[in-house]
Amino acid sequence: MKISILAGVCVLAASGLAQVPADHGYGPVDPVALPDVVLTSENGLPVRLRSLTANKRTAVQFIFTHCPTACPLLGSLFAKVDRTLAGDSSLLLSISVDPARDTPERLLAWRRQFGRSDRWMALRPDAASLAALLKVFGQKDGPPSGHALQVFYVDGESRYVARTTDLPRAAGIANALAGRFEMAGRGPAKVFEEGTNTEASGEAIYHQALGVVPRVNGEIVAATAARCANCHGAAGEGRREGELVAAALRGGALTELRPRRGGPPSRYTRDTFCQSLGTGIDPAGVMLDAAMPRYAASAKSCTALWQYLTTGEASPDRPRD
Ligand code: HEC
Repeated sequence: MKISILAGVCVLAASGLAQVPADHGYGPVDPVALPDVVLTSENGLPVRLRSLTANKRTAVQFIFTHCPTACPLLGSLFAKVDRTLAGDSSLLLSISVDPARDTPERLLAWRRQFGRSDRWMALRPDAASLAALLKVFGQKDGPPSGHALQVFYVDGESRYVARTTDLPRAAGIANALAGRFEMAGRGPAKVFEEGTNTEASGEAIYHQALGVVPRVNGEIVAATAARCANCHGAAGEGRREGELVAAALRGGALTELRPRRGGPPSRYTRDTFCQSLGTGIDPAGVMLDAAMPRYAASAKSCTALWQYLTTGEASPDRPRD
């Protein structure tokens, strides 16, 4: 994870473009209301950000039109997300970090080079609005070249709720916006829900989904349909069903540093494992497929499950459920 991000930054830094803060994070955040600012759209019209984002899922990126390397990447990323999202009402916003030079005309021309889109808009904040926005998204107010390479998610209540890794995959953003996954809107604290304080052993959770509340696309599903072993195999060896690949979970699969579903190399810790289970966001900030249920589990149950999966070897003759 670190290695890959640093390598990316070196390439960009070498061309003098982006100085990405070394310690920025990814995944869900405690929701923060967007500042009530009015920006100028690429068509030269005033746009109240909170009204624009109300009742929609929005992905936000920061760009500036004089930026030759990182911003074309960000632009083509949103173009790809836009194409993937046909018919969906979510919104893509590219906010300029260079309001002094980025006129609405320049922003429109910048965005149009990636193609036409009804859901994607470039916006110019004034200096005060930009400062307020950067603050909410946890970014430093510095030269434009220091802008984030991450994408930030805003929920239908105009709250910043999650962010991706640097230059994330289009598919992950499209999936998050299309609502095929629970939006990562609830900070880590809510991963553990009430009613899930039943204590169960890791093995009982894995084979029977005891003491956890499984949901698929937000709907609670029966424990029998959500036993980990159903999809990941009786021994956690992983299983493929057509297009669906449920990863191996045992034998060091979770703790090993490796690329997962197109993201940068990452490994799980107990905390990110429990968070992924609850929110569907993996340690690299990539959303898990909707086919992987989301589980509300107490900290105790989740720890037991983590221990069950990470201690001991995967073995084909582990007890079946
Ligand atoms: C209905 C099938 C299904 C069930 C039940 C299920 N999973 Fe999954 N799981 C998947 C699929 C499919 C993926 C791959 C998702 C992707 O790559 O986007 C996955 C991915 C994962 C990952 C990510 C692995 C990695 O290498 O990043 C973890 C961790 C995981 N599951 C844990 C569990 C646990 C623990 C349970 C039980 C509490 C469980 N799963 C139950 C289908 C399932």
